[in-house]
Amino acid sequence: MISKISKLESIQKRINDVEEMTSWSPVPLGSILRAPAYSYDAWGISITSENSTWLYVRSSVAYMTEWGKTDQRLNDLVSKAAEEAGLGDVNALLNRSVGSSAAAFLLDTIQRKGHFAMIDIGAGTGPTSLATLDALNELMLANKQGKNWDYGKIILVEPSKDRISRAIETVEKSAFYANYGKRTQVKGILKMEISALKLLKRGSIDVAISNAAIHHNAFNYHLKALHSAIERKTGQFISGDWHDSMWHSPERAYWMIAAMSRLNDQEKIDAILGFIKNGKMSESYKESREAKEFREYFGIDIEHMGDPFSQLSVRERKANAGIFRFWISVGKAFSDRNEKSPIFMIEAHEPVSKRVENLNAAGFDVLRHEEISIKEGEIGELATVMRATMRQAD
Ligand SMILES: C[S@@+](CC[C@H](N)C(=O)[O-])C[C@H]1O[C@@H](n2cnc3c(N)ncnc32)[C@H](O)[C@@H]1O
Repeated sequence: MISKISKLESIQKRINDVEEMTSWSPVPLGSILRAPAYSYDAWGISITSENSTWLYVRSSVAYMTEWGKTDQRLNDLVSKAAEEAGLGDVNALLNRSVGSSAAAFLLDTIQRKGHFAMIDIGAGTGPTSLATLDALNELMLANKQGKNWDYGKIILVEPSKDRISRAIETVEKSAFYANYGKRTQVKGILKMEISALKLLKRGSIDVAISNAAIHHNAFNYHLKALHSAIERKTGQFISGDWHDSMWHSPERAYWMIAAMSRLNDQEKIDAILGFIKNGKMSESYKESREAKEFREYFGIDIEHMGDPFSQLSVRERKANAGIFRFWISVGKAFSDRNEKSPIFMIEAHEPVSKRVENLNAAGFDVLRHEEISIKEGEIGELATVMRATMRQAD
Protein backbone atom coordinates (compact mmCIF):
# COMPACT_ATOMS: atom_id res chain seq x y z
CA MET A 1 0.00 0.00 0.00
CA ILE A 2 2.72 2.43 1.00
CA SER A 3 4.72 1.66 -2.12
CA LYS A 4 1.58 2.11 -4.29
CA ILE A 5 0.99 5.55 -2.83
CA SER A 6 4.59 6.57 -3.15
CA LYS A 7 4.57 5.56 -6.83
CA LEU A 8 1.54 7.79 -7.47
CA GLU A 9 3.22 10.58 -5.55
CA SER A 10 6.30 10.31 -7.70
CA ILE A 11 4.17 10.55 -10.87
CA GLN A 12 2.36 13.59 -9.44
CA LYS A 13 5.73 15.14 -8.64
CA ARG A 14 6.87 14.66 -12.23
CA ILE A 15 3.67 16.31 -13.51
CA ASN A 16 4.13 19.26 -11.11
CA ASP A 17 7.85 19.59 -11.88
CA VAL A 18 7.24 19.86 -15.61
CA GLU A 19 4.43 22.40 -15.14
CA GLU A 20 6.59 24.46 -12.83
CA MET A 21 9.69 24.24 -14.98
CA THR A 22 7.80 25.51 -18.04
CA SER A 23 5.72 28.12 -16.19
CA TRP A 24 7.52 30.91 -18.11
CA SER A 25 5.85 29.82 -21.36
CA PRO A 26 3.11 32.10 -22.76
CA VAL A 27 1.25 28.88 -23.57
CA PRO A 28 1.51 26.54 -20.60
CA LEU A 29 2.48 22.98 -21.39
CA GLY A 30 -0.25 21.58 -19.13
CA SER A 31 -0.19 18.21 -17.43
CA ILE A 32 1.91 15.59 -19.20
CA LEU A 33 -1.03 13.22 -18.63
CA ARG A 34 -2.81 15.08 -21.44
CA ALA A 35 -0.42 13.43 -23.92
CA PRO A 36 -1.69 10.24 -25.60
CA ALA A 37 -1.48 7.38 -23.12
CA TYR A 38 0.73 5.39 -25.51
CA SER A 39 3.43 8.01 -24.96
CA TYR A 40 3.37 7.96 -21.12
CA ASP A 41 6.25 5.49 -21.06
CA ALA A 42 8.48 7.92 -22.93
CA TRP A 43 7.64 10.57 -20.31
CA GLY A 44 8.72 8.17 -17.57
CA ILE A 45 5.25 6.98 -16.52
CA SER A 46 4.42 3.28 -16.79
CA ILE A 47 0.76 2.38 -16.89
CA THR A 48 0.02 -0.56 -14.60
CA SER A 49 -3.21 -2.28 -13.53
CA GLU A 50 -2.81 -0.50 -10.18
CA ASN A 51 -2.41 3.05 -11.45
CA SER A 52 -4.44 3.09 -14.71
CA THR A 53 -7.67 4.41 -13.14
CA TRP A 54 -5.78 7.07 -11.24
CA LEU A 55 -3.96 8.14 -14.42
CA TYR A 56 -7.18 8.20 -16.43
CA VAL A 57 -9.03 10.31 -13.84
CA ARG A 58 -6.08 12.72 -13.51
CA SER A 59 -5.80 13.17 -17.26
CA SER A 60 -9.57 13.77 -17.62
CA VAL A 61 -9.43 16.41 -14.88
CA ALA A 62 -6.48 18.05 -16.63
CA TYR A 63 -8.65 18.39 -19.75
CA MET A 64 -11.76 19.52 -17.88
CA THR A 65 -10.04 22.50 -16.27
CA GLU A 66 -9.34 23.86 -19.73
CA TRP A 67 -12.76 23.64 -21.38
CA GLY A 68 -14.73 24.86 -18.41
CA LYS A 69 -13.18 28.31 -18.56
CA THR A 70 -12.56 29.11 -22.21
CA ASP A 71 -14.70 31.68 -23.98
CA GLN A 72 -15.30 33.46 -27.29
CA ARG A 73 -12.46 35.97 -26.82
CA LEU A 74 -10.09 33.06 -26.48
CA ASN A 75 -11.55 31.33 -29.55
CA ASP A 76 -11.01 34.52 -31.53
CA LEU A 77 -7.43 34.86 -30.36
CA VAL A 78 -6.67 31.26 -31.23
CA SER A 79 -8.35 31.55 -34.66
CA LYS A 80 -6.29 34.64 -35.37
CA ALA A 81 -3.13 32.82 -34.34
CA ALA A 82 -4.09 29.91 -36.60
CA GLU A 83 -4.52 32.35 -39.46
CA GLU A 84 -1.10 33.87 -38.79
CA ALA A 85 0.37 30.38 -38.86
CA GLY A 86 -1.17 29.83 -42.30
CA LEU A 87 -3.68 27.36 -40.84
CA GLY A 88 -6.53 29.84 -40.85
CA ASP A 89 -9.32 28.00 -42.55
CA VAL A 90 -8.27 24.48 -41.70
CA ASN A 91 -10.98 24.09 -39.08
CA ALA A 92 -13.63 25.30 -41.52
CA LEU A 93 -12.28 22.95 -44.20
CA LEU A 94 -12.36 20.04 -41.76
CA ASN A 95 -15.96 20.86 -40.89
CA ARG A 96 -16.92 21.14 -44.54
CA SER A 97 -15.43 17.74 -45.29
CA VAL A 98 -17.09 16.08 -42.25
CA GLY A 99 -20.36 17.83 -43.20
CA SER A 100 -20.47 16.64 -46.78
CA SER A 101 -19.68 13.01 -45.88
CA ALA A 102 -22.21 13.01 -43.06
CA ALA A 103 -24.92 14.66 -45.17
CA ALA A 104 -24.65 12.01 -47.92
CA PHE A 105 -24.95 9.34 -45.25
CA LEU A 106 -27.92 11.08 -43.59
CA LEU A 107 -29.83 11.43 -46.85
CA ASP A 108 -29.37 7.72 -47.43
CA THR A 109 -30.54 7.00 -43.87
CA ILE A 110 -33.65 9.16 -44.33
CA GLN A 111 -34.45 7.39 -47.59
CA ARG A 112 -33.91 3.96 -46.03
CA LYS A 113 -35.55 4.44 -42.65
CA GLY A 114 -37.57 7.63 -42.78
CA HIS A 115 -35.73 8.99 -39.75
CA PHE A 116 -32.22 9.62 -38.41
CA ALA A 117 -30.33 10.18 -35.18
CA MET A 118 -27.06 12.11 -35.27
CA ILE A 119 -24.70 12.96 -32.43
CA ASP A 120 -22.03 15.70 -32.56
CA ILE A 121 -19.19 15.00 -30.12
CA GLY A 122 -17.48 18.16 -28.85
CA ALA A 123 -19.96 20.34 -30.72
CA GLY A 124 -18.34 23.61 -29.63
CA THR A 125 -20.55 26.46 -30.85
CA GLY A 126 -22.04 24.21 -33.55
CA PRO A 127 -19.97 24.57 -36.78
CA THR A 128 -19.68 20.81 -37.39
CA SER A 129 -23.44 20.24 -37.09
CA LEU A 130 -24.11 23.35 -39.14
CA ALA A 131 -21.81 22.20 -41.98
CA THR A 132 -23.61 18.84 -41.96
CA LEU A 133 -27.11 20.32 -41.91
CA ASP A 134 -26.28 22.89 -44.61
CA ALA A 135 -24.99 20.12 -46.87
CA LEU A 136 -27.98 17.91 -46.01
CA ASN A 137 -30.40 20.73 -46.77
CA GLU A 138 -28.83 21.12 -50.24
CA LEU A 139 -28.96 17.38 -50.86
CA MET A 140 -32.60 17.16 -49.77
CA LEU A 141 -33.46 19.90 -52.26
CA ALA A 142 -31.36 18.44 -55.08
CA ASN A 143 -32.92 15.00 -54.51
CA LYS A 144 -36.43 16.41 -54.14
CA GLN A 145 -36.68 14.57 -50.82
CA GLY A 146 -39.37 16.97 -49.64
CA LYS A 147 -41.17 16.30 -46.38
CA ASN A 148 -41.79 12.69 -47.05
CA TRP A 149 -39.99 11.37 -43.98
CA ASP A 150 -40.71 11.06 -40.28
CA TYR A 151 -38.23 12.70 -37.92
CA GLY A 152 -34.64 13.59 -37.15
CA LYS A 153 -32.85 13.71 -33.83
CA ILE A 154 -29.73 15.82 -33.28
CA ILE A 155 -27.75 15.41 -30.08
CA LEU A 156 -25.02 17.90 -29.26
CA VAL A 157 -22.43 16.88 -26.67
CA GLU A 158 -20.30 19.61 -25.16
CA PRO A 159 -18.88 20.21 -21.67
CA SER A 160 -18.87 24.00 -21.94
CA LYS A 161 -22.16 25.64 -20.92
CA ASP A 162 -21.65 28.74 -23.01
CA ARG A 163 -20.77 26.77 -26.14
CA ILE A 164 -23.58 24.27 -25.89
CA SER A 165 -26.26 26.93 -25.78
CA ARG A 166 -24.66 28.62 -28.77
CA ALA A 167 -24.51 25.28 -30.60
CA ILE A 168 -28.24 24.71 -30.07
CA GLU A 169 -28.92 28.22 -31.34
CA THR A 170 -26.71 27.62 -34.40
CA VAL A 171 -28.63 24.47 -35.31
CA GLU A 172 -31.99 26.12 -34.73
CA LYS A 173 -31.01 28.99 -37.02
CA SER A 174 -29.92 26.69 -39.85
CA ALA A 175 -31.71 26.53 -43.20
CA PHE A 176 -32.29 22.82 -42.57
CA TYR A 177 -34.13 23.65 -39.33
CA ALA A 178 -36.15 26.37 -41.08
CA ASN A 179 -37.32 23.72 -43.56
CA TYR A 180 -37.65 20.68 -41.31
CA GLY A 181 -37.64 22.05 -37.75
CA LYS A 182 -41.11 20.68 -37.01
CA ARG A 183 -39.86 17.13 -37.36
CA THR A 184 -36.38 17.71 -35.93
CA GLN A 185 -35.56 17.42 -32.27
CA VAL A 186 -32.39 19.12 -31.01
CA LYS A 187 -30.97 18.11 -27.66
CA GLY A 188 -27.85 19.33 -25.89
CA ILE A 189 -25.98 17.22 -23.35
CA LEU A 190 -23.72 19.33 -21.16
CA LYS A 191 -21.17 16.67 -20.31
CA MET A 192 -17.92 15.15 -21.46
CA GLU A 193 -18.50 12.58 -24.16
CA ILE A 194 -17.78 9.55 -21.95
CA SER A 195 -20.61 10.40 -19.52
CA ALA A 196 -22.95 11.64 -22.27
CA LEU A 197 -22.60 8.47 -24.32
CA LYS A 198 -23.49 6.33 -21.32
CA LEU A 199 -26.92 8.01 -21.25
CA LEU A 200 -27.77 6.77 -24.73
CA LYS A 201 -29.48 3.54 -25.70
CA ARG A 202 -27.15 1.00 -27.31
CA GLY A 203 -27.21 1.27 -31.10
CA SER A 204 -29.50 4.31 -31.07
CA ILE A 205 -27.29 6.61 -33.21
CA ASP A 206 -27.08 6.41 -37.01
CA VAL A 207 -24.14 8.73 -37.40
CA ALA A 208 -21.68 10.28 -34.99
CA ILE A 209 -19.88 13.37 -36.26
CA SER A 210 -17.05 15.23 -34.62
CA ASN A 211 -14.40 17.79 -35.40
CA ALA A 212 -11.26 18.63 -33.44
CA ALA A 213 -12.62 17.01 -30.30
CA ILE A 214 -11.72 13.31 -30.21
CA HIS A 215 -8.15 14.22 -29.19
CA HIS A 216 -9.33 15.36 -25.74
CA ASN A 217 -9.05 11.91 -24.25
CA ALA A 218 -5.60 10.48 -23.59
CA PHE A 219 -6.87 6.92 -23.23
CA ASN A 220 -9.32 6.67 -26.14
CA TYR A 221 -11.86 4.97 -23.84
CA HIS A 222 -14.51 7.17 -25.46
CA LEU A 223 -14.16 5.32 -28.76
CA LYS A 224 -15.56 2.15 -27.18
CA ALA A 225 -18.45 4.11 -25.62
CA LEU A 226 -19.13 5.68 -29.01
CA HIS A 227 -19.08 2.29 -30.71
CA SER A 228 -21.79 1.06 -28.29
CA ALA A 229 -24.03 4.02 -29.05
CA ILE A 230 -23.88 3.61 -32.85
CA GLU A 231 -26.25 1.37 -34.78
CA ARG A 232 -24.53 -1.97 -35.25
CA LYS A 233 -25.13 -2.74 -38.93
CA THR A 234 -25.10 0.48 -40.92
CA GLY A 235 -23.94 3.18 -38.47
CA GLN A 236 -20.94 5.40 -39.16
CA PHE A 237 -18.52 7.65 -37.33
CA ILE A 238 -17.23 10.61 -39.33
CA SER A 239 -14.53 12.54 -37.60
CA GLY A 240 -12.17 15.37 -38.48
CA ASP A 241 -9.21 15.86 -36.19
CA TRP A 242 -5.66 17.11 -35.74
CA HIS A 243 -3.08 14.39 -36.15
CA ASP A 244 0.51 14.93 -35.09
CA SER A 245 2.91 13.42 -32.59
CA MET A 246 4.69 16.42 -31.08
CA TRP A 247 3.98 15.17 -27.52
CA HIS A 248 5.08 11.61 -28.23
CA SER A 249 8.22 12.06 -26.07
CA PRO A 250 10.19 14.72 -24.16
CA GLU A 251 12.79 14.48 -26.98
CA ARG A 252 10.20 15.83 -29.46
CA ALA A 253 8.60 18.25 -26.99
CA TYR A 254 12.08 19.66 -26.32
CA TRP A 255 12.03 21.44 -29.71
CA MET A 256 8.73 23.11 -28.96
CA ILE A 257 10.10 24.27 -25.59
CA ALA A 258 13.32 25.48 -27.24
CA ALA A 259 11.36 27.63 -29.70
CA MET A 260 8.75 28.84 -27.22
CA SER A 261 11.51 30.10 -24.92
CA ARG A 262 12.92 32.38 -27.67
CA LEU A 263 9.85 33.58 -29.55
CA ASN A 264 11.60 36.73 -30.76
CA ASP A 265 14.42 34.82 -32.38
CA GLN A 266 12.90 34.10 -35.80
CA GLU A 267 16.13 32.60 -37.11
CA LYS A 268 16.11 30.01 -34.35
CA ILE A 269 12.43 29.23 -34.86
CA ASP A 270 13.00 28.73 -38.59
CA ALA A 271 15.98 26.47 -37.88
CA ILE A 272 13.88 24.31 -35.54
CA LEU A 273 11.03 24.20 -38.05
CA GLY A 274 13.47 23.00 -40.72
CA PHE A 275 14.81 20.38 -38.31
CA ILE A 276 11.30 19.04 -37.60
CA LYS A 277 10.62 18.84 -41.34
CA ASN A 278 13.87 17.25 -42.51
CA GLY A 279 16.15 16.46 -39.55
CA LYS A 280 18.84 18.98 -40.50
CA MET A 281 19.84 21.42 -37.77
CA SER A 282 21.82 24.59 -38.42
CA GLU A 283 25.31 24.57 -36.92
CA SER A 284 24.65 27.83 -35.14
CA TYR A 285 21.86 26.40 -32.91
CA LYS A 286 22.35 27.55 -29.32
CA GLU A 287 20.28 26.06 -26.58
CA SER A 288 18.30 28.39 -24.32
CA ARG A 289 18.53 28.07 -20.53
CA GLU A 290 14.88 26.92 -20.39
CA ALA A 291 15.40 24.24 -23.04
CA LYS A 292 18.52 23.02 -21.24
CA GLU A 293 16.68 22.72 -17.95
CA PHE A 294 13.89 20.70 -19.60
CA ARG A 295 16.38 18.44 -21.40
CA GLU A 296 18.43 17.79 -18.28
CA TYR A 297 15.32 17.03 -16.22
CA PHE A 298 14.56 14.17 -18.60
CA GLY A 299 18.20 13.05 -18.76
CA ILE A 300 18.44 13.73 -22.49
CA ASP A 301 21.99 13.96 -23.78
CA ILE A 302 22.06 16.54 -26.55
CA GLU A 303 25.13 15.01 -28.18
CA HIS A 304 23.30 11.71 -28.65
CA MET A 305 19.72 12.88 -29.03
CA GLY A 306 19.84 12.64 -32.84
CA ASP A 307 16.62 13.25 -34.71
CA PRO A 308 13.61 12.23 -32.58
CA PHE A 309 11.34 12.57 -35.65
CA SER A 310 13.39 10.17 -37.76
CA GLN A 311 10.97 7.21 -37.59
CA LEU A 312 8.20 9.32 -39.09
CA SER A 313 6.96 9.45 -42.66
CA VAL A 314 7.20 12.69 -44.62
CA ARG A 315 3.49 13.45 -44.04
CA GLU A 316 3.87 12.82 -40.31
CA ARG A 317 6.89 15.16 -40.16
CA LYS A 318 4.93 17.83 -42.02
CA ALA A 319 2.07 17.42 -39.56
CA ASN A 320 4.44 18.08 -36.65
CA ALA A 321 5.87 21.11 -38.44
CA GLY A 322 2.30 22.40 -38.91
CA ILE A 323 1.33 22.07 -35.25
CA PHE A 324 4.67 23.64 -34.27
CA ARG A 325 3.84 26.69 -36.43
CA PHE A 326 0.41 26.85 -34.83
CA TRP A 327 1.71 26.91 -31.23
CA ILE A 328 4.48 29.39 -32.04
CA SER A 329 1.82 31.69 -33.44
CA VAL A 330 -0.43 31.24 -30.38
CA GLY A 331 2.62 31.84 -28.17
CA LYS A 332 3.44 35.10 -29.96
CA ALA A 333 -0.19 36.30 -29.75
CA PHE A 334 -0.27 35.84 -25.97
CA SER A 335 3.25 37.05 -25.30
CA ASP A 336 2.59 40.26 -27.31
CA ARG A 337 -0.32 40.93 -24.97
CA ASN A 338 1.67 39.97 -21.93
CA GLU A 339 -0.97 37.37 -21.20
CA LYS A 340 -0.94 33.68 -20.54
CA SER A 341 -2.96 31.33 -22.70
CA PRO A 342 -5.72 29.44 -20.86
CA ILE A 343 -5.32 26.58 -23.33
CA PHE A 344 -2.48 24.13 -22.90
CA MET A 345 -0.05 22.88 -25.51
CA ILE A 346 -0.06 19.18 -24.69
CA GLU A 347 -2.99 17.42 -26.30
CA ALA A 348 -3.70 13.81 -27.14
CA HIS A 349 -3.20 14.36 -30.86
CA GLU A 350 -2.13 11.09 -32.42
CA PRO A 351 -0.79 10.20 -35.87
CA VAL A 352 -3.39 8.84 -38.31
CA SER A 353 -1.92 5.33 -38.04
CA LYS A 354 -2.42 5.36 -34.23
CA ARG A 355 -5.99 6.68 -34.53
CA VAL A 356 -6.81 3.95 -37.04
CA GLU A 357 -5.33 1.38 -34.64
CA ASN A 358 -7.43 2.78 -31.79
CA LEU A 359 -10.59 2.85 -33.89
CA ASN A 360 -9.96 -0.76 -34.89
CA ALA A 361 -9.46 -1.75 -31.25
CA ALA A 362 -12.81 -0.14 -30.39
CA GLY A 363 -14.63 -2.17 -33.10
CA PHE A 364 -14.59 0.26 -36.04
CA ASP A 365 -13.23 -0.22 -39.55
CA VAL A 366 -11.82 2.88 -41.18
CA LEU A 367 -13.27 3.04 -44.68
CA ARG A 368 -11.41 6.07 -45.88
CA HIS A 369 -9.46 9.03 -44.74
CA GLU A 370 -8.89 12.36 -46.39
CA GLU A 371 -6.12 14.84 -45.67
CA ILE A 372 -7.09 18.48 -45.82
CA SER A 373 -4.73 20.51 -48.00
CA ILE A 374 -4.27 24.24 -47.78
CA LYS A 375 -2.77 26.70 -50.22
CA GLU A 376 -0.42 28.21 -47.61
CA GLY A 377 1.80 25.12 -47.55
CA GLU A 378 1.94 21.44 -46.93
CA ILE A 379 0.68 20.14 -43.61
CA GLY A 380 0.85 16.43 -44.36
CA GLU A 381 -1.71 14.51 -42.34
CA LEU A 382 -2.19 17.24 -39.71
CA ALA A 383 -5.87 17.79 -40.51
CA THR A 384 -7.54 14.55 -41.55
CA VAL A 385 -11.15 13.36 -41.80
CA MET A 386 -11.90 9.68 -41.23
CA ARG A 387 -15.00 7.74 -42.08
CA ALA A 388 -15.42 4.61 -39.99
CA THR A 389 -18.03 1.86 -40.10
CA MET A 390 -18.90 -0.80 -37.57
CA ARG A 391 -16.90 -4.01 -37.97
CA GLN A 392 -19.46 -6.70 -38.73
CA ALA A 393 -17.48 -9.64 -37.36
CA ASP A 394 -17.93 -8.26 -33.82
C1 LIG B 1 -11.53 22.65 -30.84
S1 LIG B 1 -13.18 22.64 -30.32
C2 LIG B 1 -14.06 22.10 -31.77
C3 LIG B 1 -15.51 22.49 -31.76
C4 LIG B 1 -16.28 22.23 -33.05
N1 LIG B 1 -16.48 20.82 -33.26
C5 LIG B 1 -15.56 22.87 -34.23
O1 LIG B 1 -15.25 22.17 -35.18
O2 LIG B 1 -15.30 24.07 -34.17
C6 LIG B 1 -13.24 21.24 -29.27
C7 LIG B 1 -14.52 21.15 -28.47
O3 LIG B 1 -14.53 19.91 -27.76
C8 LIG B 1 -15.06 20.15 -26.48
N2 LIG B 1 -14.55 19.07 -25.58
C9 LIG B 1 -13.41 19.06 -24.86
N3 LIG B 1 -13.31 17.91 -24.17
C10 LIG B 1 -14.41 17.19 -24.47
C11 LIG B 1 -14.90 15.92 -24.05
N4 LIG B 1 -14.20 15.16 -23.22
N5 LIG B 1 -16.09 15.51 -24.52
C12 LIG B 1 -16.79 16.27 -25.39
N6 LIG B 1 -16.37 17.48 -25.83
C13 LIG B 1 -15.20 17.93 -25.37
C14 LIG B 1 -14.56 21.52 -26.10
O4 LIG B 1 -15.34 22.14 -25.10
C15 LIG B 1 -14.63 22.25 -27.43
O5 LIG B 1 -15.83 22.94 -27.61
